[in-house]
Amino acid sequence: MLKKILPIFITIGFAYAQMDLTERGKQIFMKYNCNICHAPTDDAASVGPSLETIAVHYLGNERKLVDFLKGDAPPIIDPQRFMIMKPQLYKTKHMFEEDYRALAYYLTSVHKNQ
Ligand code: HEC
Repeated sequence: MLKKILPIFITIGFAYAQMDLTERGKQIFMKYNCNICHAPTDDAASVGPSLETIAVHYLGNERKLVDFLKGDAPPIIDPQRFMIMKPQLYKTKHMFEEDYRALAYYLTSVHKNQ
């Protein structure tokens, strides 16, 4: 019996943990007003790349994204317009490790939860 239901609990628990991470990441994203320049999809006219585009470049490479947010890695999407993004990094330069994980997860989450 336990053998049968245990995987179900593990699956639910895992899904819940991921949801939590996305939610936390979204909170940080909104708190720092990142949404002013970053829209969810490419349809909207926005100053910065959409979360869709960010996901295309960083999905599976969240470690690199965290390095970028820490100011330790160069931009890879639109280096010519980095001067607009650069001043924003002061907001993300000194966060808790867990918050980097959440923000990076959210930034690449467009297709993760569908
Ligand atoms: C004033 C507008 C603006 C705000 C606010 C802003 N960004 Fe950006 N962002 C940009 C622009 C423009 C680019 C494109 C330049 C680049 O690729 O670095 C960019 C690029 C990025 C990239 C891609 C970096 C790469 O590899 O090229 C990430 C990730 C990102 N922003 C995250 C964030 C986060 C997180 C916040 C909130 C703390 C934020 N941005 C706030 C304008 C903004």
